Parts: sequence; C-alpha cells; structure tokens
Amino acid sequence: MVRLRRNRLANQADRHQLYQESVQDTETEIDFVEETWQALRNRPPELLREDFCGTANTACEWVRRGAGHYAIGVDLDEEVLQWGELNNLSQLTEEQQSRIQLLHENVLDTDPGLADIVLAMNFSYYLFLTREELLEYFHCVYAGLMDDGILFLDAYGGYDAPREIKEERECEGFTYIWEQASFNPIDSTMACHIHFEFPDRSRMDRAFSYYWRLWTLPEIREMLAEAGFSEITVYWEGTDQESNEGNGIYEPAEVGDADPGWVCYVVAQR
Ligand SMILES: C[S@@+](CC[C@H](N)C(=O)[O-])C[C@H]1O[C@@H](n2cnc3c(N)ncnc32)[C@H](O)[C@@H]1O
Repeated sequence: MVRLRRNRLANQADRHQLYQESVQDTETEIDFVEETWQALRNRPPELLREDFCGTANTACEWVRRGAGHYAIGVDLDEEVLQWGELNNLSQLTEEQQSRIQLLHENVLDTDPGLADIVLAMNFSYYLFLTREELLEYFHCVYAGLMDDGILFLDAYGGYDAPREIKEERECEGFTYIWEQASFNPIDSTMACHIHFEFPDRSRMDRAFSYYWRLWTLPEIREMLAEAGFSEITVYWEGTDQESNEGNGIYEPAEVGDADPGWVCYVVAQR
C-alpha cells in the first residue's frame, strides 16, 4: 500500500517539540542555576532573564519553581515566541503566567529592568561572530544585572568540535542528528544543522540551522572580564568512575580534560 506523504511521521511532527525533547533539559539547567546561586549568594534570586529564549521553556521552569520567581524571555524570532506562548506558557497557571513576560527584541538592545540572573544557554551567544559583537553583548548583560547579579552561560568544545561530522542520538520516537557541516579554521565559523529522523524513515532535514563561531573558553573568559565581570568561573563536569562518561556534576575547575567533546558552564559574577 502506498503511504501518503502527509501521513509520514516527519510531516506530522513539530520541530519545536522535537527540539525541546532532544536538546533541552530545563530541570537540570535550573537545578544548576539554583544550587550555584545558593552557594554564591545569601539572598534568594527573583528575576531571571532568559536571553535567546526560543520557546521560553527554561523561563517557564523558573517561574514554576517558586512563587517569588519572575522571568523575562528575550528572542528575535516572533514565530518561536508565539509557539512558546501557545505551548509552554499556556501550561502554567494564571498566577504563574502573570510572573513571566516574553519580549520580541534583540538581546543587544533589550533593557527590561535589572535581573538577578541572566541565562544564555545552548551556546546561543556563539551566534555573535566577532569579538566586538560578543563583547557588546557581555557589556549589555553586565548593565542589565543587579549589583550582585550572575550570568550563566554554557560552552562546548573538544577536538571533535571543529570537525565536519554527524552525530546521532536515539530519542523517544525519533533520532536526533547533529551535523557540523562546515568549519572555517581561518575565522572559526561553522555551519551546523539539526535533523530529525523517524522510524518510518521519513526525515525533517535542517529543522534548525546555526551559523556560528566556535569560541574558546579563554576568549570567553577574557571578554567577560573586559566587560567588567569580577569573578568568572568554569564549572567542569566530573567523570563517572565506572562508565568513564560525564557524571552530570559540574564543579569549579581551572583544569579540564582534553576530551573529544565537552560541555561546561561559565558563571560570571557581576
Ligand atoms: C540555539 S537557539 C536557543 C534556544 C534556547 N535558549 C535553548 O536553550 O535551547 C537560539 C535562539 O536565539 C535567538 N536569537 C538569535 N540572535 C538573537 C539576538 N540577537 N537577540 C535575541 N534572540 C536571538 C534565535 O531566534 C533562537 O530562538
């Protein structure tokens, strides 16, 4: 029997839903933010600004965590913000919704009031291709934080990071494919794509594409210091002795392992 194209799984799937399921782990991310804030500050945080918020999944997790939690999500793309409104904010209670606001703005221009915490996750600031632009962004964040505010970033690298490769990971009901399509060693820019494949062999190619710069940790730390941040700490993942894989526990470190692929957090205190 001929299967109609529209009945194929790829045509029925929603790319934002697949992204949330395969890329994000907002609970773990907010666990890290809360634990780290608690270790560094003696007061509870209130306002979290999620830069490059996309569907604002993380901002929603923040407001769910406590009645004193407020969130602002900032993104340039109206379509993704609308999706977040319809699918994520709508899952919150009315009271929780009153503590979250989404802004259709450029993170370089936004000025929504001083935040305790700014988050820029899933390497979104790699989209700034020049030192000038990234430094401008770090200056904007610095100006947008309370005196004792903290910026949380993630970063990735390792000797596989600039390679032109594809990596697959099985998720519930689909395969997530990360493609590093091209890398230019002269300016460190790269084109990356996310594809999804389904059990009926249908595919959603280039569901998301990024053209970004593979920044290094020393560059990021030096620019954060230049923007005025007083304490910049890399939190490196520990290793599980049995599996020799990452154990999900991130601790302050000055020395990391020369792994093929690593992800870490950078915590910059104002
Ligand atoms: C890699 S996604 C990250 C989504 C989400 N933060 C996460 O953790 O998965 C990058 C997002 O940044 C947004 N973006 C890119 N440049 C931006 C800018 N200058 N200002 C605001 N948002 C921007 C894009 O629209 C996109 O939704």
